[in-house]
Amino acid sequence: MALHQTELRPLGKCVGRKEDPRFIRGKGRYVDDIMLPGMLYMYLVRSPYAHARIKSIDTSAALQAPGVKLVITGEDLEAMNLAWIPTMANDQQMVLATGKVLYQYQEVAAVIAETREQAVDAAQLIDIEYEPLPVVVDPFKALEPDAPILREDREKKSNHVFHWEAGDREATEELFRNAPVVVKKDVRFQRVHPAPLEPCGCIADYNPSTGKLTWYVTSQAPHAHRTVLAMVSGLPEHQIRVISPDVGGGFGNKVPIYPGYVAAVVASLKLGKPVKWIETRTENITSTGFARDYHMTCEIAAEEDGRVLALRVKTIADHGAFDAAADPSKFPAGLFSIVTGSYDFKEALVEVDGVYTNKAPGGVAYRCSFRVTEAAYLIERVMDVLARRVGVDPAELRKRNFIRKEQFPYKSPTGWTYDSGDYEKTLALALEKIGYEELRKEQAEKRARGEFMGIGISTFTEVVGAGPSHTFDIMGIKMFDSAQIRIHPTGKVIARLGVRHQGQGHETTFAQIIAEELGLSTDDVLIEEGDTDNAPYGLGTYASRSTPTAGGAAALCARRIRDKAKKIAAHLLEVGEEDVVWDGVSFSAKGLPGKSVTMKDVAFAAYTNLPEGMEPGLEATYYYDPPNLTFPHGAYIAVVDIDKGTGAVKVRRFLAVDDCGTVINPMIVDGQVHGGLTEGFAIAFMQDIPFDDEGNCLAPNWMDYLVPTALDTPHWETDRTVTPSPHHPIGAKGVGESPNVGSPAAFVNAVVDALAPLGVEHIDMPIFPWKVWQILREHGVTE
Ligand code: CDP
Repeated sequence: MALHQTELRPLGKCVGRKEDPRFIRGKGRYVDDIMLPGMLYMYLVRSPYAHARIKSIDTSAALQAPGVKLVITGEDLEAMNLAWIPTMANDQQMVLATGKVLYQYQEVAAVIAETREQAVDAAQLIDIEYEPLPVVVDPFKALEPDAPILREDREKKSNHVFHWEAGDREATEELFRNAPVVVKKDVRFQRVHPAPLEPCGCIADYNPSTGKLTWYVTSQAPHAHRTVLAMVSGLPEHQIRVISPDVGGGFGNKVPIYPGYVAAVVASLKLGKPVKWIETRTENITSTGFARDYHMTCEIAAEEDGRVLALRVKTIADHGAFDAAADPSKFPAGLFSIVTGSYDFKEALVEVDGVYTNKAPGGVAYRCSFRVTEAAYLIERVMDVLARRVGVDPAELRKRNFIRKEQFPYKSPTGWTYDSGDYEKTLALALEKIGYEELRKEQAEKRARGEFMGIGISTFTEVVGAGPSHTFDIMGIKMFDSAQIRIHPTGKVIARLGVRHQGQGHETTFAQIIAEELGLSTDDVLIEEGDTDNAPYGLGTYASRSTPTAGGAAALCARRIRDKAKKIAAHLLEVGEEDVVWDGVSFSAKGLPGKSVTMKDVAFAAYTNLPEGMEPGLEATYYYDPPNLTFPHGAYIAVVDIDKGTGAVKVRRFLAVDDCGTVINPMIVDGQVHGGLTEGFAIAFMQDIPFDDEGNCLAPNWMDYLVPTALDTPHWETDRTVTPSPHHPIGAKGVGESPNVGSPAAFVNAVVDALAPLGVEHIDMPIFPWKVWQILREHGVTE
């Protein structure tokens, strides 16, 4: 039962979501809902080839077509020095192709017309002559010496993008040399896509009379987008206003700047009219930032009883044609070095090599704190392989290796300082709640009858909240976040934050934090995000960073206001400030029972009855630079049954016990967990973006790239432990991505566990029924 929004002390309570009335009634306002007078529409012409030289582009017929106002090609952009834009990963990316195309569906020309249909029709009239070139889709082949060089713009004549490593090579190798047990596994995390319900899109509205560009864009990071746009276009930053209206899902997809955005801005600048560009579903999946695509080899050195010693990971990261990963600057492979996970490895060596192929660019953090999902999947998968090799139950193996609660703050061998955790407690709760012992007994009975039932565990650690500005920046912009709170005379609050939610419920949860700190109700607090003209500067919402960063800013900003409020309260109570006591709801005077004032009384006084010499008003701004990241964790358990005839896997039960420190709103956290588990389930069982040898994308829409419906989705059971972050102002850690990070391994571990009697040690995702059926058939289980 949700708490009413008018109640006081709302932190930690299930306050009903303030944003839902408008979403449930279909009254959200997304970019495509915005209609401006005189608006034009843009459509992008895309390459049918994955690798081809462009011999000529003839736009003359398209320019004559009805309603067409402008056609833009790469050559036009070259003349404006806008043919290439920087990516967030220190690479550069073509806006509209010049010279050659590097992946199928690459943007080649933009047509702007009075209607969208006219733009689409005219696009068919653009005549482009291509000369096909050899295609490389396999990143291992791309590294071979005779592979065609894809990126002719680079000085380095190879398809190798970067090498990155963390950990101590010599110490790790020493432990491997002497280890009694070594397990090794090749594990692929396939190419997937965030595929938000609302695809990418924008309206660029340049007003020639004021010189101001208003850019409505479905963005997770409006401030950063404005800065990048200013740097790329040369427009003064204060003359750009980015408005990110309601965002229909982001999941990392709406962090990068895409070619369509730049083309729409150029078109509006040239035409002096608003230009709208909205992607189709296929455009979204085939050309905007994909996620994962990591080919990982993992080795664990251990004692005979399964106690781990060292970890060695080598990864080939397929970045497609441009390295457009959304990673902080110093981390070309994101935070992948968290791969030692929840376990007390003595040493580790993690290496990643980025590679170019003829595929769409990306490497975005799909509901993931920059490659943490790949890391968690890998370690949780291979810990199970180790458990089987040494003959120890996977739950017991984990317990033997956990970083113990008294070891926090824990310094990992790859350099992270984990803030807090209690892994044993979380796993113990999960095992008890799921009835692990009973399930293992049931499994033994079923195995004896030739049935295939599996139990999969994942006890992952996350790293979220980028970040401390000493280590984290994106394109040089330090990663902090911000809040600005103003209490108006009647005690009502408008608070603006530098992040931008996409359905996570910030309008409720940030109101809860602020209301808690100020003795108000959530109903008293209006949260606004997403307008760069109004909100304080911040790096945006992705990587579960909002609560660790902007959540901290909101609390500290409110406390800053409370400090001033205390002075005003002293004036109203006619006592010294040192005699004023705050009890969470009102200020009272020590030794004067019955004499108290609320924040509303104080707010009114801030505009009407101030102490002598005090600045009027009651507002503050806070830029919060967190001292460290936060490290949420969880224990997930999946129980599956396999149909011997079809290979279909039924997820009978799934329990997620999460620990995200102090919980702001349990209902919203549960909702985050449900959503993330559904995505994790889809990744484990349904989703992949494969390519044929010619670079044709074989899953360019929701017919081939499957999205789970309510019918496919299992029932989720959730629970929680609470280990507050010692450095966060309210002890909260992020949670939004934990279920996506932690669940794939639980699903796969369960399926592999079911098939273990056949000697199966690993199956790459997605586990389609046919893969399981093939295994059953190879082992003579089915015909
Ligand atoms: O950055 P993003 O909002 O995607 O992720 P988050 O910080 O993990 O927050 C997701 C949602 O869960 C927000 O509404 C948070 O305020 C809420 N949350 C919470 O209620 N308690 C926590 N400890 C963490 C997040």
